Amino acid sequence: MSMAKEEESLKFDDRIMKPEFSLEDGEVELSLRPKRLEEYIGQEKVKENLGVFIDAAKKRNEALDHCLFYGPPGVGKTTLATVIANELGVNLRVTSGPAIERPGDLAALLTNLAENDLLFIDEIHRMMRNIEEVLYPAMEDFGLDIIIGKGPSARSIRLDLPKFTLVGATTRAGQLSPPLRDRFGVILRLDLYEPESLAKIVKRNSCILGINCEEDAAQEIAERSRGTPRIANRLLKRIRDFTEVAGERIITKMAAKSALEKLEIDELGLDNIDRRMLTIIIKNYGGGPVGVETLAAAVGEEVVTIEDICEPFLIQVGFLVRTPRGRCVTGLCYKHLGFSRL
Ligand code: ADE
Repeated sequence: MSMAKEEESLKFDDRIMKPEFSLEDGEVELSLRPKRLEEYIGQEKVKENLGVFIDAAKKRNEALDHCLFYGPPGVGKTTLATVIANELGVNLRVTSGPAIERPGDLAALLTNLAENDLLFIDEIHRMMRNIEEVLYPAMEDFGLDIIIGKGPSARSIRLDLPKFTLVGATTRAGQLSPPLRDRFGVILRLDLYEPESLAKIVKRNSCILGINCEEDAAQEIAERSRGTPRIANRLLKRIRDFTEVAGERIITKMAAKSALEKLEIDELGLDNIDRRMLTIIIKNYGGGPVGVETLAAAVGEEVVTIEDICEPFLIQVGFLVRTPRGRCVTGLCYKHLGFSRL
């Protein structure tokens, strides 16, 4: 890990180490996150099951089994990890797959854990294979194998690690290697949220942000947040800006609609990039099929942005389909964008 990165993770660790960490006023993004399971809105099935596993681990005074959360970006994977640490009353260590550059970085993290601690690895699918291999004995036997020496005289010694819980998060469960995936005792899928849950999140978070958001305004924001709390919170903050600059203290439905129009978010939550991408498929490729690489180049975005951010929602609302020959838009999409089919 580079010095700068190490410092960054240390700072984050310092703050996140306390089970019930309190936050400075400026750290709004984190403070909007629920801290306990009962405050967490939505993902009912996941919450219910996780609650049982947490209670069982607490009763037995053991570390919770290793958990893997997968699902689209912004649906609360990191939040759930902080909630679990708070519920268990243990320390949380946060890192991510790409931040661990050498096996030694991971060994340092593992050897610094205390009994029952929770180690959260975001984007775990991006961890390098040689680093991943350090995790296998750590997850299975709470052991760390260290190679001493080189060549024929090299030998391996095993260090005992404290019992800990690994929580991995990924947007790409399919890219996880089977040996790693198989070592998680709890695998939970987080889905996009229903508008009703998102409206509750918007109401809750508007109180935290100190602005009054009317019920129908929260509903309006929820419906345009493409199933994602992160987007709902971002829109809420920008709408608060428009409202406060206009000298108002309450977000009404009208204020929300007017701000969303200025932000170029349409009634279904499509933004500029979505509309540009769909329009390109219609105008340049006759509605598809078009390969994702070609599409990404035409839109000027990266393939992962198209695949992880734009597509899950466009597929969910029935505007786009993935076929073996490429992406195609649907009749519904033509109608929504005001194009007639040839
Ligand atoms: N803020 C962001 N995500 C949330 C969730 N799932 N529940 C409550 N508040 C949230």
